[in-house]
Amino acid sequence: MTQDELKKAVAEAALEEVKKIISKDSIIGVGTGSTANFFIDALAEIKLDFDGAVASSEATRERLQAHGINVYDLNGVGTLPVYVDGADEVNPHLHMVKGGGGALTREKIIGAASTKFICIADESKQVDILGTFPLPVEVIPMARSYVARELVKLGANPVYREDFVTDNGNVILDLYNFPIDDPLAMEQRINNITGVVTNGLFALRPADLLLLGCSDGVKSIT
Ligand code: A5P
Repeated sequence: MTQDELKKAVAEAALEEVKKIISKDSIIGVGTGSTANFFIDALAEIKLDFDGAVASSEATRERLQAHGINVYDLNGVGTLPVYVDGADEVNPHLHMVKGGGGALTREKIIGAASTKFICIADESKQVDILGTFPLPVEVIPMARSYVARELVKLGANPVYREDFVTDNGNVILDLYNFPIDDPLAMEQRINNITGVVTNGLFALRPADLLLLGCSDGVKSIT
């Protein structure tokens, strides 16, 4: 199977999970990226069975609306029953690195506001130790140099993502070659640096279910 076929398979498996959870008035969280896009396309098949979605990025909002799916602001809709999103890396504890597409902050907010987080990923995303994929850190623009110096003190090699601005108007520092032995502690340490909005480690709020696309089928991992 190609990587796209694996992504489509996990998107369809996520749709089956979502069907078990939603009702006519449900508003669900929807993530960002190529795997999430397959899920959005699958979700369109059942758009009459739920009320709408909260989007983790402008790109996702546009794709949902193009399918005729209502998109709501998170404010005012309460706790979301389920959030479906991809990941750049996922470890056996279902901790993740996310934000390759730069949507990490809104993704983290939706994850926090959701009862169930379903991660959908092809098997290339499964790792034992997070950090081979560059860890993104969203930073208030005026704090970029200061935050970079603080990240160097943590042993990281921050690289400014040039010509990129997040949906929130901020910049990204990517941490290359930064193996993360203790994701829970590192997520908090980086977030404690003044000027950091958030980082792409999802350990404080891991996934509840991983649907992993493998050549021999979709595995459900909890
Ligand atoms: C977006 O900011 C990311 O968190 C994506 O969810 C992640 O990068 C996975 O993207 P793909 O499904 O395109 O690999």
